[in-house]
Amino acid sequence: IKRMTDLDLRGKRVLIREDLNVPLKDGEVADDTRIRASLPTIRHAMEAGAKVMLFSHLGRPTEGEYSEENSTKPVARHLSKLLGKEVPVIKDWLDGGFSLNDGDVVLFENVRFTKGEKKNVDETAQKYAALCDVYVMDAFGTAHRAEASTHGVTKFAPEACAGPLLAAELDALGKALGNPARPMVAIVGGSKVSTKLTVLDSLSTIVDQLIVGGGIANTFIKAAGHNVGKSLYEEDLVAEAQRLMAAAKAKGGEIPVPVDVVVGKNFDANEPAVVKKVNEVADDEMIFDIGPETAKQYAELLKTAGTIVWNGPVGVFEFDQFGEGTKALGLAIAESPAFSIAGGGDTLAAVAKYNIADKVSYISTGGGAFLEFLEGKKLPAVEALEARGG
Ligand code: 3PG
Repeated sequence: IKRMTDLDLRGKRVLIREDLNVPLKDGEVADDTRIRASLPTIRHAMEAGAKVMLFSHLGRPTEGEYSEENSTKPVARHLSKLLGKEVPVIKDWLDGGFSLNDGDVVLFENVRFTKGEKKNVDETAQKYAALCDVYVMDAFGTAHRAEASTHGVTKFAPEACAGPLLAAELDALGKALGNPARPMVAIVGGSKVSTKLTVLDSLSTIVDQLIVGGGIANTFIKAAGHNVGKSLYEEDLVAEAQRLMAAAKAKGGEIPVPVDVVVGKNFDANEPAVVKKVNEVADDEMIFDIGPETAKQYAELLKTAGTIVWNGPVGVFEFDQFGEGTKALGLAIAESPAFSIAGGGDTLAAVAKYNIADKVSYISTGGGAFLEFLEGKKLPAVEALEARGG
């Protein structure tokens, strides 16, 4: 794959696809992680003397229709502050008709307002390509989508390359999964086995130790024969959990089941946390976290790891009293000398809450893209760049 940093961008019209799909609150950016992650790419292009055009999707608007709530204007305002330079939004950008000086930067309106974007229509992608001399794919968070701005345009642009953020993500994830320092430990949390089954399947063949948490663990607890009371779990996936546990045993390891858990009777911010042995959960209780003994055991497993991959909290960490398990594992990751990677929206919120961002080796900006990478799937945007050659 060609890299943006290897190209001479001076005087060139450079079209950069970023993933600026950030949460908004009251018309302002609520979490700017993705915007900050794209800054080095944008600065590099500006300083290299390019005419910089940025584009991204924001949310999931109806295709072909402008909607104020999905406008990229708040993103441009925020970006202007971070860059210390006004970033104008161009509403009707598809047919060109605007002019830029070298070093200028503009942000287009939401690319998903454009007809043919989602469906990756060639004519749409050709129009994007006609705007530029160089197309830069930098949106790792959207690399699992084959849309006109992430896939089609790569075929038609005069020159197509990977931006620094995309390249860094691929390097870090490739390092963690391709040739990991061992032992490799993966923590997969989150609410449902069903949404993570392929991730669990794929990781279980690569890692030396798989740890499950959150609602996912409840299905494994049930699979181990314990009562989970009113906890969230998936009855139809108990057999899958048993299969994964048996496969780990056959390899001489195990997917551990918590020895203790934290329970409550109501899903409520003020619900008191009660620690119980895993075989003592009552019919009217719900499991909201791993217990302290379990957290200690899991943290011990992380101490000796060479590589750690983390996706998904192990408890309802939004409520402080049910966040101790996630906090303990987060701190263990932070203290571990292992090469560690964290990704996924909830995981990043936990990383922020427990203040460990500086201590995780690499934090991915991908949600769905991060999961698909872990699943071993080829990302369409990356495939398109590969097809253009290096
Ligand atoms: C994400 O937030 O995961 C990406 O920006 C992709 O968004 P999408 O799921 O709407 O394609």
